[in-house]
Amino acid sequence: MAKKDHYFSKYPDVDLKKHTVSESLRRHLYIFKTVTGVFSFKRLDLGTKVLIEHMSIPREPSILLDLGCGYGPIGIVLAYESPKSIVYLTDINKRAVWCAKENIKINIPDNKKRVFAKAGNYFEAIKNRDLRFDAIYMNPPLRAGKKSFLELCDKVSDYLKEDGYFEFVIRKKMGAQAIYDALEEKARIEVVCKRSGYWVFDLRF
Ligand SMILES: C[S@@+](CC[C@H](N)C(=O)[O-])C[C@H]1O[C@@H](n2cnc3c(N)ncnc32)[C@H](O)[C@@H]1O
Repeated sequence: MAKKDHYFSKYPDVDLKKHTVSESLRRHLYIFKTVTGVFSFKRLDLGTKVLIEHMSIPREPSILLDLGCGYGPIGIVLAYESPKSIVYLTDINKRAVWCAKENIKINIPDNKKRVFAKAGNYFEAIKNRDLRFDAIYMNPPLRAGKKSFLELCDKVSDYLKEDGYFEFVIRKKMGAQAIYDALEEKARIEVVCKRSGYWVFDLRF
C-alpha cells in the first residue's frame, strides 16, 4: 500500500465506503460509523478492545486524551464511563476525525461542552490550548516504527499533569518486551495485563 493510501495519511487516497461497527465494551453497546481509509474500519481492533477493557478510567472529573483516536472507540468509552470528564480525541487522519465527530454525537448525547475531536500531528492538534492531561490513552501506529513511538513517549510527559499517566497497548509480536525494556530506563512502567497476544502498559514519569 502506498504511504499516501495508508490509514495514517492526512488525506487517505482510497475510495470512500461506509461501514458500521457495533461492539459491547465494558457492558455497554456502542455503534461506530467508519469509512475506508481509517484504521480497522471493518471491526474493532483486538488491541483496542483489550486496552478499553483494562484501561483505568478516573471516576472524578478529569481531562483525558485519546491520542491517535481513529474513529474514536477509546475516547468515546472514556467519555461514557467518566461522564464528568473532558475528553479530547485527536488524529492526523482527517477521515478518522470526521468519523470520531459523528460517533461522539451518536454515542455521547451530552457531548457539547466536554468531548472534542481535533485533527493534527499528535500534540499539535491541541497545542494552542496549554492543556495538561490526567491521563492519555493510545493504541499506537506501530507500523510507523518502534523508534517513532519511543520518541513520542519522550514528549508525553510534557502533556501530563504531575501525577498523570499514559496507558497504551502493544501487540507482543510487535515488540512489547523491547518497548518495556526501553521505557523502564526512563520512567515507571507497569504491565497492566497480557491478553490475547496484547500487553497493556501504564507509564508514569
Ligand atoms: C493503531 S491506530 C488506532 C486508532 C484508534 N485509536 C483505535 O484504537 O481504533 C493509530 C492511529 O494513530 C493515528 N496516527 C498516526 N500517526 C499520527 C500522528 N502523527 N498524529 C496523530 N495521529 C496519528 C492513525 O491515523 C491511527 O488512527
